[in-house]
Amino acid sequence: MSTSLAGQVVVVTGAGGGLGRDFALQMGAEGASVVVNDTGVELDGSGGNASRAQSVVDEITAQGGSAVASTDSVAGWESARQIVQTAVDTFGRIDAVVNNAGIVRDRMIFKMSEEEWRAVIDVHLHGSFFVSRAAADYFKKQESGAYVHMTSTSGLIGAIGQANYSAAKLGIVGLSRSIANEMARYGVRSNCIAPFAWSRMTSSIPTDTPEQRARVEKLQLMQGSKVAPLAAYLVSDGSNVSGQVFAVRANEIYLMSQHRPARTMHRSEGWTVETIGEHLIPALNSSFTPLEVTTDVISWDPV
Ligand code: NAI
Repeated sequence: MSTSLAGQVVVVTGAGGGLGRDFALQMGAEGASVVVNDTGVELDGSGGNASRAQSVVDEITAQGGSAVASTDSVAGWESARQIVQTAVDTFGRIDAVVNNAGIVRDRMIFKMSEEEWRAVIDVHLHGSFFVSRAAADYFKKQESGAYVHMTSTSGLIGAIGQANYSAAKLGIVGLSRSIANEMARYGVRSNCIAPFAWSRMTSSIPTDTPEQRARVEKLQLMQGSKVAPLAAYLVSDGSNVSGQVFAVRANEIYLMSQHRPARTMHRSEGWTVETIGEHLIPALNSSFTPLEVTTDVISWDPV
């Protein structure tokens, strides 16, 4: 099976800039017809600028590729259906969805408002489901299709001030696993990528302390275009990978572990509050997951 995307129709959400633009350009160059979807909003989801999607379409067509702009939001059931409809109306089919659109509303949990929570869950988690759901009708019928969803080590490992984002991004992993399990019999694949890339999203990271400034300098070395080849491979017919979680940082590609039982203990007479404290916790303690954030776990410089 070929890893070329010739003849494929791919929807990339949030493709008017950042990583989505890199995905759209790479997939367009590999021969796919691309629906460049983007509402053109600010980092916090406010506003909207239809020209951002069109300018990436212009870049792809200037390279000799085929693309169409879509400015519908991923965050609504109907508008998400319209994104997939744009692929079918323009190119006659849909073969892959890259769920990449995103916003951030960072806030410590004890200050986060209902609106900040809902806005982030709406775009990332609901949006990924809505677009996936709309494409699923076609994928099931044609017995082929591929999903790539952007997750984040904020959810997979840990972050500070991103409870809404972390929850949405880990929710997307559950969504992807469910799609992979439920649609394997229809020849449909679903995988996640946790990218590391310097973009306007990461440019919102504060640079108040020397440690924060050093971290941002490293992030600037990580180009979104380094993530695009894996996304393109995962949607190609040459791939039979499904249900996996990858991370990409500069020239490193990581396969991330997934949750499985780490240890188990039993007492034939059952557990009491006292025996949990006296027996279970001391026995399991050395296997507990430390309270770490991404930089504690992936602590080396980008390669
Ligand atoms: P970005 O802010 O540059 O791009 C996100 C795009 O999504 C924007 O162009 C925005 O207009 C669009 N968008 C927002 N709401 C939308 C909606 N409702 N419908 C359609 N489009 C919408 O961000 P970046 O960095 O390129 O991130 C892309 C994805 O990768 C996001 O899902 C993000 O959470 C994820 N990610 C990025 C990381 C990084 O290091 N840049 C790290 C981990 C995850």
